[in-house]
Amino acid sequence: MNEYEQLESNLIVLPNDFGAIVNDFNVTKIINTEASAALKDLLHRYKILIFKKQALSDEELIRFSTYFGELFTTGKHNPALGSDKKTSPIVYIGNNTEKYKQAYLGHQEVFRHSDHQWLEKPSSVSMLYAIEIDEGAPDTLWTDMVAAYQLLPKQMKERIADIDIITFNPFFRPFGEVRSKYIDILKTVPPGNTFPHPLVRSHSTTGDKILYLHEAYEMEFKDLNFQTGSLLHHHLVSHINSINCEYSHSWEKDDLVVWDNQSTSHYRTSFDGEISRVLKRISIAGSKPIR
Ligand SMILES: [Fe+2]
Repeated sequence: MNEYEQLESNLIVLPNDFGAIVNDFNVTKIINTEASAALKDLLHRYKILIFKKQALSDEELIRFSTYFGELFTTGKHNPALGSDKKTSPIVYIGNNTEKYKQAYLGHQEVFRHSDHQWLEKPSSVSMLYAIEIDEGAPDTLWTDMVAAYQLLPKQMKERIADIDIITFNPFFRPFGEVRSKYIDILKTVPPGNTFPHPLVRSHSTTGDKILYLHEAYEMEFKDLNFQTGSLLHHHLVSHINSINCEYSHSWEKDDLVVWDNQSTSHYRTSFDGEISRVLKRISIAGSKPIR
């Protein structure tokens, strides 16, 4: 059995081939190039890989993440979560700031997004490792944005084929302020550099077409007037909400979930701040999205 067959024989594939649980895989073991390629292949095929019951030091988590590519970094001119005080590639996503002083995002709702869409080169892959999950901590909900594209009517695919989406960097706004908003650029120009990306992008490895849409940040469609653009955004969001292309992950401590950050977006609801929910995130560098 080669590395790929071995990994595949231990998989539980989730409905609609969206997500797979990889059983009997200890992510702390050092793997060879073929196994690393097999892991990436599985990720591209199923878009989300779930590894249960992993006991990982930071070093082990970082080493495992590098099997998927180089670590994501960004500079102060184009900031991202945690880039202000970056000493480690691990960013704490959590609300228990008494215990985890460096944790971000609190317990507010985090609208559907993929990581770093406002940057020139958004992450290709991200992963979360659950370290403290109280009962009642909410799921993370992933959406298959390849399916979201495929399920669009033909006329809509033609209509949006050449549109670019501009996402304004949220880290030039006061931290914690929710800025999920279609912008009227004639009235407000949010601060920071912008990098327009194709609204329909192609996956850098699989070539799959992806609906590259989010609801989390200030954004606009380039060269469309406010009324046309905001209506189109609303229409596309309604489409995504109307189709069944999601996976909801109910967290347990020591879960490690890796996702293809090109072909998926993710969401979590707000929750009671007394419930502790803390995860470590690592993100992997990506390339400039192409049409
Ligand atoms: Fe995220």
